[in-house]
Amino acid sequence: MKQMSATQLAAEPAMPARAAPIIHTEELTKVYPGSRLTAVDHLNLDVYVGEIFGLLGPNGAGKTTTAGILTTRVVPSSGRAFVGGIDVARHPALAKQLSGIVSQQNTLDRQLTVWENLYFHGRLFGMGRAASKETADRLLTQFQLEKWAKASVYALSGGMAQRLMVARAIFHRPAVLFLDEPTAGLDPQSRLALWSLLEELNKDGQTILLTTHYMEEADQLCDRVAIMDHGRILALDTPASLKGSIGGDTVVTVRAAGDLERLRQVLETEVEGVRQAQAVEGGVRLQVTSGKKVMREVVQAVGRHDFDLLDLSVAEPTLETVFITLTGRELRD
Ligand SMILES: Nc1ncnc2c1ncn2[C@@H]1O[C@H](COP(=O)(O)OP(=O)(O)OP(=O)(O)O)[C@@H](O)[C@H]1O
Ligand SMILES: [Mg+2]
Repeated sequence: MKQMSATQLAAEPAMPARAAPIIHTEELTKVYPGSRLTAVDHLNLDVYVGEIFGLLGPNGAGKTTTAGILTTRVVPSSGRAFVGGIDVARHPALAKQLSGIVSQQNTLDRQLTVWENLYFHGRLFGMGRAASKETADRLLTQFQLEKWAKASVYALSGGMAQRLMVARAIFHRPAVLFLDEPTAGLDPQSRLALWSLLEELNKDGQTILLTTHYMEEADQLCDRVAIMDHGRILALDTPASLKGSIGGDTVVTVRAAGDLERLRQVLETEVEGVRQAQAVEGGVRLQVTSGKKVMREVVQAVGRHDFDLLDLSVAEPTLETVFITLTGRELRD
């Protein structure tokens, strides 16, 4: 670290105030007409410039609804939402200019070619002919789609179509790029390619909010993650802090037959370093602090109490572990 003189230190603010959030919600709530469920439930969220922010949650958590309100496609029931300081419900047209959207469905225009899908997006957003043409050409090259410029969008693979939707979404230089489940249904290779693409865009300063139910995606890609369930945020932090918050640095999953609640109690009391023991389907999950002997102790405890041990596995905590700890359920269906 560079040494600083006393005068330099005095000039330095003690704690630089964080810039105003680019996304801000206050008690944001959505109940769809005729529904008894609260899709988004008093959500308070701040996302900052330059972040890749993830909304992680299972089906029906309210991720799409939240993104939908922020991108003016869903009208909130109560509370407020701001993008770039603009109240999205009051000034939807202004808010739209600030947002780039890649939605959960393929929304490319099938009547148009690949290039035209980009070009007409620019025109729709008020860009001139020359600027739209130049941007369409540049983005097709940047996204390695130039060979497909004249092709119908029917000709594109899932991964290519998704890249084209990202190119279209950033065409008008939005303040925030919103992506709803961007890699759902993509093959692993296309998923990795899209992650790199999003990382590149973010390196160039693009703020990104994405929704996902893939814990690896949230973990690898996002600076901060909000874990959502039933319209609420259960936890919000960096992936590392979330994983560190659950207690224990090792997750041991014991698959066994018999009375699993009794097995849970046995393991909780007889294995050293157990921070938490939870009965899960077909077994018990332990969160343990650096137990070198943990496997041996588990096997011995299971044997002493005449349980049939079916499988034993050790892993580091993941965001899935965090979700299970918070809800008692698994993230995946
Ligand atoms: N147009 C709608 N009309 C009525 N209910 C809706 C509508 N859209 C969503 N919902 C309900 O709102 C809740 C939240 O749905 P939402 O689509 O926001 O969740 P999600 O987290 O995006 O889920 P998924 O992972 O399935 O995409 C769910 O209970 C869903 O059934
Ligand atoms: Mg959704």
